[in-house]
Amino acid sequence: MRITTLLPVALLLSACSITNPADERAQGLSRLGEQLFSDPRLSADGITSCASCHDPLRAFTDGRKISVGAFGRPSTRNAPSLLDLEDMESFFWDGRLDDLHETLLQPFTAPNELANPSIDHVVQVVKDIPSYRRDFQKVLNGRSLDERALTDAIAAYLENLDRGTNRYELAQEGGSALSAEEKRGLALFEGKAQCAACHTPGTTALTDNQFHHAGIGFERASGRIKSLVERIDDAQRSRSQLGNLILEDEEVAELGRFVTTRKAADIGGFRTPALRNVANTAPYMHDGSVPTLEEAVDRELYYRGIASGRPIALTVDEQRQLLAFLHSLSLE
Ligand code: HEC
Ligand code: HEC
Repeated sequence: MRITTLLPVALLLSACSITNPADERAQGLSRLGEQLFSDPRLSADGITSCASCHDPLRAFTDGRKISVGAFGRPSTRNAPSLLDLEDMESFFWDGRLDDLHETLLQPFTAPNELANPSIDHVVQVVKDIPSYRRDFQKVLNGRSLDERALTDAIAAYLENLDRGTNRYELAQEGGSALSAEEKRGLALFEGKAQCAACHTPGTTALTDNQFHHAGIGFERASGRIKSLVERIDDAQRSRSQLGNLILEDEEVAELGRFVTTRKAADIGGFRTPALRNVANTAPYMHDGSVPTLEEAVDRELYYRGIASGRPIALTVDEQRQLLAFLHSLSLE
């Protein structure tokens, strides 16, 4: 009796949950992206994946100073979080690419990341796995399973990640999500400590998307620019080879933005990183050379003050408040 009266309701509910085919394909693509992202079969050593260096449980970073790829090969850079891609105007610490799909292809063949011989090889590996072949067929709507399909899937996954809302964002919407101490820290961040000059408030990631020097790692490259430029020229013939060189050659990596612009003023310049989730992304800076958030703040206060010609002196209490504010940018 009960069952018969409930039946129409159940039918109605299931009818409502039927989404249109295009939405279903988009969701299927994003699910495929999630699988590819953590699939070690797409690496040359069979045990490394994107998630090895971009761990979803660590705000898509790896907790290492510099990343270690297939066959234990160390790279030259610290893995950035991938939770803020939609706020980025260019990709990688030196902004050498501005196309997301091109960016997503590079790790597959970088010798210090997934180390595959070619992207065609990766596409073939995916095609040879029956479940991928079947599931891609369902979502591609007649398109072929090629490199674009792979990056479409990964991009769909990364663009649809649930980024959550941190307390700073909640506070911006009104309300009292920040404690008194954190509010004082925010005032310092925007005022006396001058952080907001580059870590732009109002944008969720707190970055101006520009490139600045921090005096980090730079001493390693200075004085050797000419020979380094020759190495870059050799690699520049192919963009992926330039990326590979940067991840293999510490000295070239330290040239930062210069590699792309060739302007002397850009030597050692790096993109202002996102500060969202910053308490969860240690160690810090492009080379992971700063182990804790406290030290990163100390360093920023010191160098940014020197660089702008206006040294910043905060009291111990103020430093604590600034740090408290930075902690409010992470999801608990
Ligand atoms: C060995 C570790 C490692 C692996 C494996 C790896 N990455 Fe990364 N990833 C990094 C590092 C390090 C950087 C920064 C490189 C640079 O700035 O030159 C980076 C940068 C990126 C960026 C640019 C982020 C930004 O803010 O500009 C994206 C996107 C990305 N990786 C996606 C992926 C995807 C997708 C995969 C798998 C196909 C992958 N990565 C595999 C370490 C890794
Ligand atoms: C002139 C621009 C500029 C100013 C001002 C500035 N920053 Fe930065 N910040 C950067 C850049 C660029 C980096 C990356 C440097 C690198 O890796 O070489 C960075 C890195 C950081 C990092 C490390 C983040 C990570 O994921 O590695 C923290 C934390 C940070 N800044 C906090 C602050 C604070 C706090 C202030 C104010 C005291 C401040 N910054 C002022 C540009 C700036």
